[in-house]
Amino acid sequence: MADVFMVLAKDHEEVKGMLAELEKGPTRATGASQDQLALRKKMTEQLIIEESRHEALEEMYFWPAVREHYPAGNTLADEAAGQEQEAKEVLDKLDKLDASDPEFEMLLGTFTSAARVHIAFEEAQVWPGLRPVLPAGTAAVLGSKIAEGKKTAPTRPHPRTPPSPGALKAAGPAPY
Ligand SMILES: [Fe+2]
Ligand SMILES: [Fe+2]
Repeated sequence: MADVFMVLAKDHEEVKGMLAELEKGPTRATGASQDQLALRKKMTEQLIIEESRHEALEEMYFWPAVREHYPAGNTLADEAAGQEQEAKEVLDKLDKLDASDPEFEMLLGTFTSAARVHIAFEEAQVWPGLRPVLPAGTAAVLGSKIAEGKKTAPTRPHPRTPPSPGALKAAGPAPY
């Protein structure tokens, strides 16, 4: 049974893989065809879906556990929430653009750097301290809830929804 760290690590690898794939291009500036730009837009949409689900589930299950079990949890969770909010705002704009839009690559580049910093923050600043203090049973339950939650988690960034577990639960599954 995968615990919360394994479930989140798998998501992080998926997102990093998508970012690396997108980084290869081609882009509008490097001569991508219309078909290639359409594919680039689709890949970006998939990235936005994965990322939105992941962050929403972290907000719902992971950060409350960090706040509860980890002495430095509140500070770390607040910092992460700020990073996640910035990412949502970038993704919300990116989601509305075609890959031929001049702003598209700028926003994708901004998101790519921010996402790598955010993933490294979670894996290097939060997980090592949380692991020894999070009871194994809780880590397993959180892993299942996050894995299960993928089916109903929001698939869009929703930057104007406050990042509280209650607000997300009340919002329910996204209507798309
Ligand atoms: Fe996160
Ligand atoms: Fe994460």
